[in-house]
Amino acid sequence: MTAPIITMDRVTRRFGEQILAVDNMTMDIKEGEFISFLGPSGCGKSTALKMIAGLLPVSAGTIEIADETDASEQDLAFVFQEPTLMPWATVFANVYLPLRLAGVKRAEAEPRVMAILAEVGLTKFAKSYPRALSGGMKMRVSIARALVTKPRILLMDEPFAALDEMTRSKLNNDVVRLAKDNGLTVIFVTHSVFEAVYLSTRIIVMAARPGRVAADISLDAAWPRNDDWRTTAEFAVQAQSVSETLQETLHVDDLDH
Ligand SMILES: Nc1ncnc2c1ncn2[C@@H]1O[C@H](COP(=O)(O)OP(=O)(O)OP(=O)(O)O)[C@@H](O)[C@H]1O
Ligand SMILES: [Mg+2]
Repeated sequence: MTAPIITMDRVTRRFGEQILAVDNMTMDIKEGEFISFLGPSGCGKSTALKMIAGLLPVSAGTIEIADETDASEQDLAFVFQEPTLMPWATVFANVYLPLRLAGVKRAEAEPRVMAILAEVGLTKFAKSYPRALSGGMKMRVSIARALVTKPRILLMDEPFAALDEMTRSKLNNDVVRLAKDNGLTVIFVTHSVFEAVYLSTRIIVMAARPGRVAADISLDAAWPRNDDWRTTAEFAVQAQSVSETLQETLHVDDLDH
């Protein structure tokens, strides 16, 4: 058994007296897992992700990230729903930013930036400005910017929610490929059962009020999957089952209130 890369032990986050955004979240995440946090609005998905990223302190409990052997590399990267690019800077400059902030000289950074732009299919757009890019391309820049530091863990908070269905499917495939090729551990927040089932090796279903883990589902279907898998009976059965689990958590909430 390999040691977990992320260990969450009774992690709790309150906002004021009233709101228990995340209640007693305990889980081990192993290297190479592709995990989705799936649940209704307000169930604490973003709060949990931000605590794992160290962007938000916990109210109680602990989160441990296993030590990286090479201390010069960054452990963790975050991709938000909005690509949040600098509009006045080129695609190259946007992707270079985290390395620049880490003190890496431009000449040294250039091959790394160009390599990651190639991985997301944006080589030809290195000199373009964000305004000249489609929503999907901006999101690719945002993903490239996250990956340029060679993180081991990639945290994504509803990255494709604002994109059309076809772009979203394409980016789903890209993210899985990047995760596999780079040996990433991914936590991916989504509202979509289909997206969670397609992408993940494991789905954490969350429930609201208080935000908590309602189910922990392993998806055993061969991974990575391709678009053909979306039309298989296996996919339909998994989606149905996850959907029912999600419905049950909503139902319990309805009874509570
Ligand atoms: N900074 C904050 N101050 C006060 N309350 C907050 C804050 N951030 C989140 N909350 C509350 O914590 C709970 C969980 O919020 P969170 O944003 O984590 O949910 P979510 O599952 O990401 O929802 P969504 O799917 O809408 O993004 C909600 O009740 C929310 O109102
Ligand atoms: Mg959220």
